[in-house]
Amino acid sequence: MKFTVTSERPDSVKTGCVILGVFEHRALSSAAAEFDKATGGILKKILKDGDMNGSSGQTVIVHSPAGAKCERVLLVGCGKASDFNARAYQQAVSNSVQAVNASGASDAVSYLAELEVSDRPTCQRVRTLVEVTYAAAYTPDALKSRKDKSAQPIRRLSVGVDAGDVASVRKAISEGEAIASGVELARTLGDLPGNICTPSYLANEARELGKGSDKLRVSVMSEAGMEKLGMGSLLSVSRGSRQPAKLITLKYDGGKAREKPVVLVGKGVTFDSGGISIKPGAAMDEMKYDMCGAASVLGTLKACIAMKLPVNVVGIIPATENLPDGDASKPGDIVTSMSGQTIEVLNTDAEGRLILCDALTYCGKYKPAAVIDIATLTGACVIALGSHAAGLLSNDDELADELLRAGKSADDRAWHMPLWEEYQQQLKSNFADMANIGGREAGTITAACFLSRFTEKYSWAHLDIAGVAWKGGDQKGATGRPVSLLTQFLIDRAAS
Ligand code: BES
Ligand code: MN
Ligand code: ZN
Repeated sequence: MKFTVTSERPDSVKTGCVILGVFEHRALSSAAAEFDKATGGILKKILKDGDMNGSSGQTVIVHSPAGAKCERVLLVGCGKASDFNARAYQQAVSNSVQAVNASGASDAVSYLAELEVSDRPTCQRVRTLVEVTYAAAYTPDALKSRKDKSAQPIRRLSVGVDAGDVASVRKAISEGEAIASGVELARTLGDLPGNICTPSYLANEARELGKGSDKLRVSVMSEAGMEKLGMGSLLSVSRGSRQPAKLITLKYDGGKAREKPVVLVGKGVTFDSGGISIKPGAAMDEMKYDMCGAASVLGTLKACIAMKLPVNVVGIIPATENLPDGDASKPGDIVTSMSGQTIEVLNTDAEGRLILCDALTYCGKYKPAAVIDIATLTGACVIALGSHAAGLLSNDDELADELLRAGKSADDRAWHMPLWEEYQQQLKSNFADMANIGGREAGTITAACFLSRFTEKYSWAHLDIAGVAWKGGDQKGATGRPVSLLTQFLIDRAAS
């Protein structure tokens, strides 16, 4: 996929397809109006004849429009001009990409980024265009012996903008490409099955990333190392697995030498069967996605490297499987975490918090400016927020607001949930310092309460991505979220 910028006008640009926005009530965008004039009113005629009325979701393609140099023109319905907000823009872009990819064009010039959108400056609109186009070319066919050749996504997209914007748009394009490549990595890893994407596979993937940059150093700790550090909670999860657990550290030094790092901790359960508290069989395959937190950390670091972002970031990935076995943890087992706190494992399926808590204690050694953990942690979060927003819980309201803002501007939203003292009660255990589950009520919050007991020394936020990290149904697949949110957060930190 190649992205470029052009200030050539839509009627004179040579391309497989020119993409133009049309609003309801026959309102043409300014690029569309220019095109219409050059072609003797072809667009107005299409609207007048009722082939489209500009409402959202409509697309019309016209071949070889006389008076223009393109092979095709694609008109994209944008809805009412007065309602054209960030969501409508994203929708129009997404519809345009679907339509152009379904056409025979192999390249296109899109003028959609010229459309005015409230609280979305040009550069952000360009980024959306790049990210959506890039993502639409992804197909999870790495393991298909025969690839589907019928769908041929475009290979080149040029972004049409005013001559004065060219330089800044170039930067936006490269940011968009960087983020999109991070999202793609997260999707690719998420879609890989548990028999391929093991903890060792994730470790190798991290090492590969390290080879691509002299600013990134990667190290991988074995179970023996974890034992020495007293990570009894993490190790209790990997007991039942024949694949050894790995604790992966990626240190990206893009910022000033003495600047404290942002630490990203990603849950890397490469398959979650539930362990002895085994899950029901239906849709259990989806638990290969239980490493999407880890994948988002790798994806975000990939984006940082590509952008040469001037920040210090440490990625920490506790990676393990959760399987039943004669040697697996049993309900009622009591384990000692690296922090010294003891945990009664009442349900071996609440394993994410058991591996995260030791990783969260461990990352204290980096004297972090902030720690963000990202985890497909609770089914309860899917029930609460569905697939539209990640659950956000934090011991620092300012950090939480920063993340909410980043999510909004990156179209990768989170929603703030409370972490009140009252909920901590639910984690009481008669035999240990705490239980690893808090009962049926407020499952996302009690999971975060559990983690909060290991993060008191620094500013911390938790993103529960169980709902946003992948889609079910016939479009089943990883989404690459929340790479955009995290990268935006780091971009904003780098700028402040
Ligand atoms: N990986 C799951 C959470 C999950 C469930 C993510 C469904 C996406 C979809 C996690 O390890 C888990 O099993 N959580 C349990 C916790 C419970 C035992 C307290 C859950 O949510 O059921
Ligand atoms: Mn589980
Ligand atoms: Zn899990």
